[in-house]
Amino acid sequence: MTTIAEALDQASAVIAGDSPRLDAEVLLAHCLDKPRGHLLAWPEKPLPPDTERRFLALVNKRASGRPISHLTGQREFWSLPLRVTPDVLIPRPETELLVETALARLASPRARVADLGAGSGAIALALASERPGWRITATDQSAAALTLARQNAERLGLNAIEFRQGDWCDALAGEPYDLILSNPPYIPPGDPHLQTGDLRFEPRQALVSADDGLANLAAIIDQARAHLKPGGWLMLEHGYNQAEPVRKRLARRDYQAIETLSDLAGHPRVTVGACPETQTRALEQ
Ligand SMILES: C[S@@+](CC[C@H](N)C(=O)[O-])C[C@H]1O[C@@H](n2cnc3c(N)ncnc32)[C@H](O)[C@@H]1O
Repeated sequence: MTTIAEALDQASAVIAGDSPRLDAEVLLAHCLDKPRGHLLAWPEKPLPPDTERRFLALVNKRASGRPISHLTGQREFWSLPLRVTPDVLIPRPETELLVETALARLASPRARVADLGAGSGAIALALASERPGWRITATDQSAAALTLARQNAERLGLNAIEFRQGDWCDALAGEPYDLILSNPPYIPPGDPHLQTGDLRFEPRQALVSADDGLANLAAIIDQARAHLKPGGWLMLEHGYNQAEPVRKRLARRDYQAIETLSDLAGHPRVTVGACPETQTRALEQ
């Protein structure tokens, strides 16, 4: 019988990429339904044959490039275990900067907040877990994404989020918001990264945007003004080289206090702007 240590050694030799050993451990822990620490504590333990078979099947899929999150069906974001499928973007650690920024800039325990393009629900759920008094609307164009986000909310018991389907701010109606935030698709259509790593297996409508990746960011900047309260914030995640065009667009639309924040890798990643205190108006293109 194969032991845990032998199975991990064999799998690490087969899996390509940056972290074959870690990938093997995550997959084996998933098959055993145990934390990774169990593998280190019991390296001599033999694997039940059906567990070994399931593990080998996952290792082969990982060796052919399939994302770990698609194989385990799970990804952690803001310490929340989220279910993830090929219908949504796999939440990325850099997006936690958007959550941190929102929590830091909007101190009020009561606020009306919209997360545009919610995908798995990562951002909306992180905010709901931290600020139970916020009224959060999570939107997406994709019905499949909204179904998954709703399921994640139910599983985590974060039931105060309202889900709406629609094209960016078309999904918002009624009273204005204190904060609109989004991690929209921002990769240019011809970007070679789209042919690498996890991106090959994620939905194109969650990744790609026209006009050098800027079309969705521009649409949200233009539309959000009409849905924000005076003094309300717009916060956007963007590509490492998109901060300047985003800031310019925000300035052209009369947002104030415009600022870009960098992620842990030092890349400009989130840009924020506030509506003037005295007015909220829809601006012409
Ligand atoms: C980059 S993913 C972000 C997902 C999630 N917020 C996160 O950070 O992990 C962008 C999301 O925007 C959605 N989306 C794309 N175009 C849209 C549109 N025109 N209106 C609303 N949502 C859109 C996609 O379906 C996708 O779920």
